[in-house]
Amino acid sequence: MNRKLRISLLALICCLALPASSSAQQASLAATPPMGWNSWNHFGSRIDDQIVREQADAMVSSGMKAAGYTYIIIDDTWAGTRDAQGFIHPNAKFPDMKALADYVHSKGLKLGIYSSPAAKTCAGYTGSLGHEDQDAQTYANWGIDYLKYDWCQPPRGLAAMKAAYMKMHEALLKTGRPIVFSLCQYGWYKVWEWGASVGGNLWRTTGDISDRYYAMANNGFDQNGLEKYAGPGHWNDPDMLEVGNGGMSEDEYRTHMSLWAILAAPLIAGNDLTQMTPYTVALLTNRDVIAVDQDPLGKQGYRIAQEGPLEVWMKPMADGSKVVGLFNRQTTADEMTVNFSEIGISGPATVRDLWLKKDLGTFTDKYSAYVPRHGVVLVRIKAK
Ligand code: GLA
Repeated sequence: MNRKLRISLLALICCLALPASSSAQQASLAATPPMGWNSWNHFGSRIDDQIVREQADAMVSSGMKAAGYTYIIIDDTWAGTRDAQGFIHPNAKFPDMKALADYVHSKGLKLGIYSSPAAKTCAGYTGSLGHEDQDAQTYANWGIDYLKYDWCQPPRGLAAMKAAYMKMHEALLKTGRPIVFSLCQYGWYKVWEWGASVGGNLWRTTGDISDRYYAMANNGFDQNGLEKYAGPGHWNDPDMLEVGNGGMSEDEYRTHMSLWAILAAPLIAGNDLTQMTPYTVALLTNRDVIAVDQDPLGKQGYRIAQEGPLEVWMKPMADGSKVVGLFNRQTTADEMTVNFSEIGISGPATVRDLWLKKDLGTFTDKYSAYVPRHGVVLVRIKAK
């Protein structure tokens, strides 16, 4: 046997003998950005067992599950007190967490929960400090599939922060149950640089979103430059969706969805799924747009051109095509153009409008369109 072959065989045997590494688990858990629903943006502290069941039902009946949404995530305010052995119990709003998980699973969906590395959560409920192993085991026993781990208290330094997240990551691994790990600490200490190394499948890069165009736009457009830190298994998270909550115009919500898709951001709906207009359902379930977010190449898009409030963003796709967002952040409509030379395409290319779901034909050198105020034109361009 030649030396090279022997070394590769040894390497192979060694890899097979090792337990699945945490980074392998990371990649298989969130190979594409997680999709689901979270209680916080719409329900806040009003969330309870009944509402979670209704949202799970609506995720199926609305077609969202079929479009790829999977996780039903209970945010803050579920936790009660610890028993004499230190095990956490839900408060009266959640009489039986295991039964709730069984219900969500029976719909073909997965259940997520929320805690904090501190003694108290952001809303003042019991956090996991000093009980990480016990809490992880409790979540696994209940059948939890996703944990959002949120640290609101003033940061105590990079080392302390990394150690706290690592501790819960290891506790989750020890349970043997695949549990998506969502870091929430608003981007402190450039979390994108180390979030993956402490087991994060996604990490918040910004402060809280709100149901206003300017808040959403600040979070989303600020992601430019972070693209190199995202990839299969580990994603930048500019916060959950506000689509359908009523505070933005249709064009503004279309911008929200388009930008999150170009960013390969987690698509975690934050509205009441039982009360959706047909327009909200269409926005959340547009297959062409979801395919941009969920593209297997896992590249986060970035800005390729800017003229004041007119921004052109591009996301490279696995099939070689380029998705381009013409974003108009000003308050009047304007014509915008993408030059094919800026997206690495020379010669003729086909253009498909992803919101109109329409092939527009073949174009050479550039594509131009009128873009409404605070709106977007989202196209997929493929060299012929
Ligand atoms: C923080 C998070 C929110 C939500 C609340 C809950 O503000 O950023 O997404 O989880 O805490 O208290």
